[in-house]
Amino acid sequence: MYIPDDTERFARRAVLSAVLRMTFSKIQVPLPKTDSHPKSKEFQHMFSIISAIGKNNELGKNNQLVFHIKDDMKFFRNTTMGHKIIMGHKTWDSLPSKLKGRENIVISRHDFEGPDLIIHDITKFIAEHESTPEEIFIIGGGTVYYQFLPYAKHIYLTEVDASAPDATTFFPEFDKSNYTQELIKKGTENGLNYTITKYTKLTKEPNERPSI
Ligand SMILES: NC(=O)c1ccc[n+]([C@@H]2O[C@H](COP(=O)([O-])OP(=O)(O)OC[C@H]3O[C@@H](n4cnc5c(N)ncnc54)[C@H](OP(=O)(O)O)[C@@H]3O)[C@@H](O)[C@H]2O)c1
Repeated sequence: MYIPDDTERFARRAVLSAVLRMTFSKIQVPLPKTDSHPKSKEFQHMFSIISAIGKNNELGKNNQLVFHIKDDMKFFRNTTMGHKIIMGHKTWDSLPSKLKGRENIVISRHDFEGPDLIIHDITKFIAEHESTPEEIFIIGGGTVYYQFLPYAKHIYLTEVDASAPDATTFFPEFDKSNYTQELIKKGTENGLNYTITKYTKLTKEPNERPSI
């Protein structure tokens, strides 16, 4: 029986490796479409944004909501119940009281009574929660959505087919083609048509390829 020596084995492995590398550099190796791909930093986060917006991304005016849809409120309550909810100081101030059954976390540069927790350092909070298995909800407002958008895996978005010309706060622009869309509900209330969609961020073409 012919047994190749070490040099020959090494040379064969080098050739095989080169062929594989050439092949895989041309083919886009599909990485698993799982959100937990260990090399995709963006998907280590479990943050979920939940929001209701108008046709022009309107969120609020004078620290109040622009649209009041009871069914959407119910959806918000059911979806966030039992979870941590993160909000900006202004959104906290706009609430009549702490939201029951949820851990109310407020982002602020100041300290004050009321919330379960106040975060001063948003970057530290994101880093500390990047591999948490729990779904943490970002509930607004505009400045907080803007800062968390890059780290959010899901966006539960109620899109109201109406505009609010006097709005003062807006949801940040995002590229919907980077997300899958799951229709949750379409409805009409008080003459307002709305659609609730769950957007889930797609894996972008990753830089890292499986090493050969
Ligand atoms: N349509 C919806 O789904 C929805 C949801 C939520 C809210 N809203 C509306 O949105 C409006 C409020 O949004 P907003 O953008 O004006 O305010 P906001 O995001 O709720 O709060 C802004 C405040 O949060 C704190 N903050 C934000 N980022 C911070 C950081 N990196 N570090 C430390 N503190 C930080 C600051 O508080 P300090 O000044 O205390 O430092 C800042 O003034 C209201 O009209 C509300 O009704 C709409």
